[in-house]
Amino acid sequence: MDKFVIKGGSRLKGRVNIGGSKNSALPIMAGALLAEGPSTIYPVPDLADVRYMCEILGDVGVSSGRSRDGRLTLAVEDESDSHARYDRVRKMRASICVLGPLLAKRGRARVAMPGGCNIGSRPVNLHLRGLRALGAEIELAGGDIVATAKRLTGATIFLGGPFGSTVLGTANVMMAATLAEGTTVLEAAACEPEVADLAAYLNAMGAQVRGAGTPRVVIEGVASLRGAAHHIIPDRIEAGTFMIGAALTNGEVTLENVRADHMMAVVDKLRQVGVIVAPAGEKGGEKVQPDNSPDASVVVSSARRLEPTDVVTQPYPGFPTDLQAQIMTLLCLADGNSAITEKIFPDRFMHVAELLRMGADIRKEGPTTIVTGVKRLIGAPVMASDLRASAALVLAGLVARGETTVSRVYHIDRGYEQIEAKLRSLGADIRRVAE
Ligand code: EPU
Repeated sequence: MDKFVIKGGSRLKGRVNIGGSKNSALPIMAGALLAEGPSTIYPVPDLADVRYMCEILGDVGVSSGRSRDGRLTLAVEDESDSHARYDRVRKMRASICVLGPLLAKRGRARVAMPGGCNIGSRPVNLHLRGLRALGAEIELAGGDIVATAKRLTGATIFLGGPFGSTVLGTANVMMAATLAEGTTVLEAAACEPEVADLAAYLNAMGAQVRGAGTPRVVIEGVASLRGAAHHIIPDRIEAGTFMIGAALTNGEVTLENVRADHMMAVVDKLRQVGVIVAPAGEKGGEKVQPDNSPDASVVVSSARRLEPTDVVTQPYPGFPTDLQAQIMTLLCLADGNSAITEKIFPDRFMHVAELLRMGADIRKEGPTTIVTGVKRLIGAPVMASDLRASAALVLAGLVARGETTVSRVYHIDRGYEQIEAKLRSLGADIRRVAE
């Protein structure tokens, strides 16, 4: 197991390239199960979660190869085994994405029921409701979801749940519906850019998906799909993490390959607290909207102590839960009281106890935390509990006085490609050492 040793106090300065989106890549990789012939997707970051997904796909007969420049080629070689086993699925919940494609393409799927995880309870009832509505027979056997269907049939399906829609549930049912007979209408579909990206890939394969990225998605089933090439959207959570890093350290970072239009809630919140976010080349233009074109560059800088604010996590286009921990670190140093309310995963607060060890002043009341800004954080040994919580601790280490060690960084390796190399190139003092 590795840990990060961080000496706080450096300002982040320079340019950083944002990779392809992890949460786009994972369902899209599962989507390759639907196709005849190979698919190539790029740029796919070199992450533990991507490797897990390659392993799961390998178990169900898909070959995979990733080139150094991040082109991942996937091809279905053998359809005889459609079982995604628990020892793989338990490592990564996104494994559930193979359920819909396996069922639609092969008429059968057996996928271990994912358990909870460090961010709380994570049911899959909406995934199963959607697949049942398409005509699948689903039962539980030995902890596995066993799904069968001769041919799925289009239906109108409501995907809303107590915490809004479901991102991977929408992905699963959308993928299954591409090969169903007739028309499927998904109501209360997740609107995340990753869902729209998946639909773009499916359409490149010959699917007919309209409305992805809105709450109403209409899918006309087709008889077959062929492999396709697809360019993945930039990772808005990696970008947000670096934006917060720049703001927190009073630095100035140019982020390359960002879709600011996927990040308006984040950009808006950062501007509210006093961070300058501007298209590259127009530094200081706080009123200017960042360029909405893909692959644009954005400059993020801050030169003063930030204002406090309130943050409520919400489904897209609201403030993402995947940046809740990181903005908490930022608000720990703001000039006053902030409130952060988690509306997607109400128990996603494992980072609070670790931030307290670094001198933060945070009070938790149900799904809300009250963060009172302190003058400084103090370096300490802390433990990563999940992917985004670990990113928040690394950010805290960058500004804390003295040395911070973040252990269990395998969590961060699941979703950030070479975060320590990228931070070092921006001037941070961070080392990876074996524990
Ligand atoms: N929910 C249900 N029933 C379901 C599915 C979800 O009640 O069948 C609830 C969940 O418990 C939660 C809410 O609905 O309260 C939203 O969960 P969702 O299904 O949207 O989460 P997910 O699709 O499993 C993806 C991301 C997460 C991200 C969430 C929310 C991937 C691989 N994962 O998970 O990303 O937090 O959407 O935006 O795309 C991460 O990258 O660190 C991460 C956890």
